[in-house]
Amino acid sequence: MIEVSFETMLTRPAPSETDFTRLPDPGPEVFTAPLQRPAHVGEDWLEPAQRQYTAEEHAIWDELYARQMQVLPGRAASAFMAGLERLDLGRGGVPDFARLSEELSGLTGWSVVPVPMLIPDHVFFWHLANRRFPAGNFIRTRETFDYIQEPDVFHDVFGHVPMLTDPVFAGYMQEYGRAGWKAMRYNRLKSLGALYWYTVEFGLILEPQGLRAYGAGILSGPTETVFSVEAQSPNRIMLNVDRVMRTDYVIDDLQPIYFVIENFGELYHDTVDRDFDRLYRALSPGFTYANSAVIDVDDVLHRGTQEYALRGGRGSGAKPV
Ligand SMILES: [Fe+2]
Repeated sequence: MIEVSFETMLTRPAPSETDFTRLPDPGPEVFTAPLQRPAHVGEDWLEPAQRQYTAEEHAIWDELYARQMQVLPGRAASAFMAGLERLDLGRGGVPDFARLSEELSGLTGWSVVPVPMLIPDHVFFWHLANRRFPAGNFIRTRETFDYIQEPDVFHDVFGHVPMLTDPVFAGYMQEYGRAGWKAMRYNRLKSLGALYWYTVEFGLILEPQGLRAYGAGILSGPTETVFSVEAQSPNRIMLNVDRVMRTDYVIDDLQPIYFVIENFGELYHDTVDRDFDRLYRALSPGFTYANSAVIDVDDVLHRGTQEYALRGGRGSGAKPV
């Protein structure tokens, strides 16, 4: 019997970690969330087709779109605004994924595919690694118009897809998908998740005209669009990948901290050129830094007052100042 030590296992990449053509079986030693696959979806977890939306659901999209357009100019990254325009996401109603995919694939080779609410991590990574963006098929209701925790089609398509028209950012998203299986093997999914959180979902960029948001979690809601770039409460720190991957985050409120990049090329190289094997060996399984901490090595752009969080945050009536 040949014994393979854990160390040897980690120094040798698993075959599935570099072969992105087929969906891997993560194996028993890798933790995967116990999600029950609905009967109507295949192994790829794709819905057979995009949903048919009612007139009311299309109207909800239009209202959400109009509300965002009130706050985005001067606050959203220019790459995001250019993507919105190129894909004409405001042509009325929930966009048709097939048409959107055709337009997007002509620009950066990405497509948009419909998925149920939650899909397993390794399947999510596999889609990204193949330039497929999994988008929630459902849309929020009027009761949940202002805040939903699960990503719906408005968050996924309006928030994420415009950035996929930017060739460098589109490349970053693919590399993120390619990096996923390694993080799972090292049991460092939380760290890689923090990188996604603080870039793809809540990232800021310093443009010549000022600070702008490019993260989908910010740009799919009006309050955080303003809060992220203008409020005094949150810290704004220049992005450092090692630091970000050690930083906790909040999932159900405005962020106490944002990380800022200077351009997407830098974000791409800072992550793709990094030796993640080495990094994962040095990282502890949990987070080192609290989500509002400012630490010695930080290049601080704005040290926040944290007033919003100190007054109680969401549900307390605290103003997002
Ligand atoms: Fe998202």
